[in-house]
Amino acid sequence: MTDMTFDMADDLPRTATRQGLDQTAPSTDTLEDIARTREAVRIPRVNIDAFCDSSDVASVIENAARDRLMSRTRVNVRMGGLGAAIEHYRQTSTPNLVIVESRSARNVYLADLDRLAEVCDPGTRVMAIGHANDIVFYRELIKRGISEYLLAPVDPVSLIASISGVYGENRSSKLGQTYAFIGAKGGVGSSTLAHNVAWTIARQLSSDVIIADLDLPFGTASLDFNLDGGPGISEVLQDTGRLDEVLLDRLLAKCGDHLSLLSAPTDLEKAYDLHESALEPLIDVAQSSIPFTVLDMPHMWTSWARNVLVAADEIVITAVPDLANLRNAKNMITVLRQARPHDPPPKLVLNQVGMPKRPEIKPKEFAKAIQLEPIACIGFEAQLFGTAANKGQMIAEVSGKGAAPKSFGEIADILTGRKDAKRSQKKALSLGSLFGTMKRGSGSVRK
Ligand SMILES: Nc1ncnc2c1ncn2[C@@H]1O[C@H](COP(=O)(O)OP(=O)(O)O)[C@@H](O)[C@H]1O
Ligand SMILES: [Mg+2]
Repeated sequence: MTDMTFDMADDLPRTATRQGLDQTAPSTDTLEDIARTREAVRIPRVNIDAFCDSSDVASVIENAARDRLMSRTRVNVRMGGLGAAIEHYRQTSTPNLVIVESRSARNVYLADLDRLAEVCDPGTRVMAIGHANDIVFYRELIKRGISEYLLAPVDPVSLIASISGVYGENRSSKLGQTYAFIGAKGGVGSSTLAHNVAWTIARQLSSDVIIADLDLPFGTASLDFNLDGGPGISEVLQDTGRLDEVLLDRLLAKCGDHLSLLSAPTDLEKAYDLHESALEPLIDVAQSSIPFTVLDMPHMWTSWARNVLVAADEIVITAVPDLANLRNAKNMITVLRQARPHDPPPKLVLNQVGMPKRPEIKPKEFAKAIQLEPIACIGFEAQLFGTAANKGQMIAEVSGKGAAPKSFGEIADILTGRKDAKRSQKKALSLGSLFGTMKRGSGSVRK
């Protein structure tokens, strides 16, 4: 490149993030808050090379690369810092994003970046990690077209947010959310909950929702909505390569103003031992075109089901308060927490609580044993749920009042972030003036 700067594409200079020069961000962020912001930031299929100067930064990048939001990227982490990067790209072309870390002093760092610019292909973005909290240095980096400067030590969540800042512009509003519902045992009411919550989200937000009935042999969604299932998921499974928004639209059965169903095949002539990534194209297409996708998961633990759960934006585990549910819920939560270390844990719903004559574990003890507070406890109401199931109606259509529809509304609020939005609106009000001042003051601080 002639001007010795990095290609800045069509973007304004990036700002240093919370890790870098923005020291104003509230330090009280909970994992939930961080996760909310994370939802805007799934990173597209880009190749990323990192050249690190310290093993700490290398392991943070490797850790971030395992996050579900980075699952589409291809990340290569190498040691040797800027020197190794320059050497490497003399021989080969540069990927979409190069992350470089250097512990060098300002002038050496900048000179090295200039040498890197000479071997960088147009279109490649460069993100710098350094150890100097220095505004002059930062301005020099921005002048050179560096997409982002992160101040070490970095953490995986901020790193992912920064990478998404480079690639995720304006994506948040387009990217749909996926909520996976699974039972700790069969028959606990997971599908009932999934259908009623999906119906409630469509009503409350007047926003499009699809239910994908992934209980392929036995799914009940079409019965619950009193629909003739239509072609549904079987066509998706036959030829995933063909799936796009138009085809998906054709396979959906409408169950309300904003609610559609992708029904399960329930054809027992077939077997449903799918490849582990068989449902990825479906979820990709759904997420790119529909604001909310509710995944009604079967009670099973196959590699594809596990992958769908791990990739979901939120997981809701429904359990009945007995010992087997307790054991299973605990195991599921442990495994899912490990697989999603930067996400909040799955949400727990206790269902069919207070069934007459059935001994049960008290909700409080259940929560204590699995170290997770349920987001809702839904009572056992045989008449109400039985009527809804047999008539092919939602609970609120049978009876709009009562505890169950209220719980569905609360669960919908929690999943879609309406509850959080209310809370953070208050928080934003109290922090608003502070951010306002800082923004004017530095001209470069991003919230
Ligand atoms: N809170 C409840 N009270 C009474 N019956 C319920 C309740 N929740 C679910 N059910 C009933 O339990 C049965 C199993 O529900 P389902 O949603 O198919 O479970 P899962 O998907 O977990 O296998 C259905 O007949 C449903 O109507
Ligand atoms: Mg089910």
